[in-house]
Amino acid sequence: MFNHRLNLQILIGLIALMVLMIFFSYAIAGEEIDRGMIIYQANCLQCHGEKGDGSGPEAAQFNPGPADLTSTQMASVPDSVLEKAIVDGVPGIPMHSWGGILSKDDVTSLILYIRTLQK
Ligand code: HEC
Repeated sequence: MFNHRLNLQILIGLIALMVLMIFFSYAIAGEEIDRGMIIYQANCLQCHGEKGDGSGPEAAQFNPGPADLTSTQMASVPDSVLEKAIVDGVPGIPMHSWGGILSKDDVTSLILYIRTLQK
């Protein structure tokens, strides 16, 4: 009988721990997305636009224009490809390399934010 109650307490404890862990992982992800948004607004918005659709205030001077980051094609591109485009830049287009400007963590947050624009 005693053992049974102990097991139940352990079970409840584990469930509470899991709920807390899920909560914190969401909170941390939310913070990273906010950080990504700030980085986006400072570095990308002028070309890619507030909503990421490629209609920023400086977009008109580029041909081809800045990529629509919200497109289904962009949504299907894996993080590693986005990361490479951001860090190395894309040869032949005015989208220069951000590798020396943004840290790896910056780029990770940035991609998390871009993913929210795609939904
Ligand atoms: C000076 C304007 C400008 C700025 C600032 C800029 N981009 Fe771009 N970006 C472009 C243009 C132009 C393209 C090319 C579109 C094309 O060739 O179809 C592009 C393309 C891209 C692509 C697609 C690359 C590919 O493989 O087709 C991604 C992803 C991207 N930009 C992300 C970003 C992010 C993230 C930032 C901020 C760190 C940023 N860009 C800042 C102009 C800019």
